[in-house]
Parts: sequence; C-alpha cells; structure tokens
Amino acid sequence: MRVLGIETSCDETGVAVYDTSRGLLAHALYSQIRLHAEYGGVVPELASRDHVRKLLPMVQKVVAEAGGPETLDGVVYTAGPGLVGALLVGACLGRSLAFAWGVPALGVHHMEGHLLAPMLEDPRPEFPFVALLVSGGHSLLVDVEGVGRYRTLGESIDDAAGEAFDKVAKLLKLPYPGGPHLAKLAEHGQAGKYDLPRPMTDRPGLDMSFSGLKTAVRVLIDRLPDMDEQTRADVARAFEDAVVDTLSIKCERALKQTGRKRLVVAGGVGANRRLRERLKQMTAKLGGEVFYPRPEFCTDNGAMIAFAGATRLAAGSTAETPVTARWPLDSLTAP
Ligand code: KG4
Ligand code: ZN
Repeated sequence: MRVLGIETSCDETGVAVYDTSRGLLAHALYSQIRLHAEYGGVVPELASRDHVRKLLPMVQKVVAEAGGPETLDGVVYTAGPGLVGALLVGACLGRSLAFAWGVPALGVHHMEGHLLAPMLEDPRPEFPFVALLVSGGHSLLVDVEGVGRYRTLGESIDDAAGEAFDKVAKLLKLPYPGGPHLAKLAEHGQAGKYDLPRPMTDRPGLDMSFSGLKTAVRVLIDRLPDMDEQTRADVARAFEDAVVDTLSIKCERALKQTGRKRLVVAGGVGANRRLRERLKQMTAKLGGEVFYPRPEFCTDNGAMIAFAGATRLAAGSTAETPVTARWPLDSLTAP
C-alpha cells in the first residue's frame, strides 16, 4: 500500500509518501518558525494561511518524486489534535485529492503519528513498548500493545515539557521556539551550579508537572540580576538537567510498572541530546532498549503521518475523521 501523508496541525507543513513494502519514498517539510517568531508563539490564522500557500506545491513535488499520483492507494491527513484552521487545510486538500484520484482518505491522530515515528527507523521497535511523548503540547507516558491499543499511564497535569523549555527560554531571552536554543546554551553550562526541583518524583505515580519548575527558574533568575553569558548557560543547564532527570525517573518507573523492556521516545523534546543519552543509560541499566526517530522526525513531519495512516489503511481502517482540536489518544481503537 502506497500512501500520501499530509501534516498541518500546527506550524509545520509536512508531506510524505510511504510504501508499506518499500518504506519512505519521498518527504518534504516546511517550517513556519520565522513567520511566527516576532509574535513569540504560533498565530493560528497566519499558520492556516501559510499552509494554504505551501501545501499544494509540496504535494506536487513529493508525489512526482515518489512515482506519480497513479501509484497511490490512499491519502491520509492529520485530523487532530491541533489548531482547527490549520488542520482544515490539510484535511480539505487530502480528501479532495483522494476523491479526484478515486482512492480512500483517512484522518490520522497526530500523537499516534509521533508515537509510531520510531518505526520509520532501522532497527524498528517491536510491540509492546512504553512510549514517552514529549512535545510542545503534550507530555505523556503510554503503554502500547499495538497500533491503536494505547493506555495512558501518566501525563503532565499542567505545562508540557516542550512548553516548559520554551517558557524558560523566553525567561533567558532566547529566540522562539526556545527548546533547541536552550539546549544549545546549556552545552556551555556547568552542571550542579544551581539546584532545581524534580517535580512529582518524590511520590508514587506517573503524572508529571513542569509549571512549578518554570516558576523555580523565574525565582532563581530574579535573584541573579545582570546575568553574564556563563550564568545564563549555568541556569539553562540546571533546568535541562532537572527536566531530563524527571523524565528519566518517570520512564524508569513506567518500565518497571508495566514490565516492558522497550522504551520509545518521540515528540520535539525527544530531539534533546542529553535526554537521549540519559534514557539510553537508564534502559541499558534495566536490560532494556530505547528507540528514537531521527531528530528531524521527532518534531512535526509528514513521514510519521504517512506511516501511521498507511499502517492503518493496510489493516482496513476507513474513517474519514473530521478535524478536531481535542482528541484523547486512549479513545483510538485497533484497526
Ligand atoms: O513535536 P513538536 O515539533 O510539536 C508539537 O507537536 O508540539 O515539538 C516542539 C517542541 C517545542 O516546545 C520545542 O521547543 C521542543 O519541542 N524542542 C526541544 C528540542 N527540540 C525541539 N526541546 C528541548 N531540546 C531540544 N533539542
Ligand atoms: Zn507534534
């Protein structure tokens, strides 16, 4: 089965063609980061308009590269969760193309795309596994028995991990989106210079919280007027270490609780180098293994949507889901 996948849930236009026997045939990604940078966050109306501008030429290019529209067996698009106006751009184009080409269309859950993204890599993780999904909008630990068989083990009760990275980066006057900039600054930071909390690790359970950690950084910065470059780097390092520690503790707990040996990490924060290293050490200690998508497939992209959609279409899913801003992952069912 060969499928065109379209991702437009937020500020990235992603397009890809995935073939269930030959793998990823072509993909393209356009990031709107520069468009939103001056506002310090994504402006939904601007995001939708830019998807309208960029999407069709990208689809033409990717489909031509993958062998032409006559070779396609389906079109899949992100149906949610995300910004409704942005989602509608991908859904409208995807369903229209499917209608014109006489092939099925399918709405894909954005987080299912992230969760299955490590399966685009070689070696790919076998089911079952525990997945840590850490993006700008979500922090979730999920027990995954198979496609569509998800059980949320824990989630953030306030800010998502990526959101905390972005907010702390703002406090450190770094450009938007702050996560990667903060990680870069932290490279020069000295570990252990400042002590920050590891939220919700001192009590049982798998829920997370990052809003208090952000406040702790603000309080710390207020105590440090006229920060020089080294001090900013030390603060960035202290924050990154606190998040990495917290996520590692929660992942270890989730693996022990479920008895799973495999951990899959996805979502934008999964691109963080220090987090990747720490989780590798932690899973090795438990005799397990950790799987990541390549860094460009950690953040939003079309390949993960094409893969998840192709897998579902091949297994018989048919739902042309309308777009939806909120869509709990646990509500999905196996195809
Ligand atoms: O998955 P994603 O592209 O979009 C959402 O669905 O949210 O994740 C974006 C998030 C942003 O908060 C960004 O700052 C964060 O991932 N991020 C990082 C890194 N790269 C991206 N956070 C920490 N370290 C990184 N290297
Ligand atoms: Zn995402």
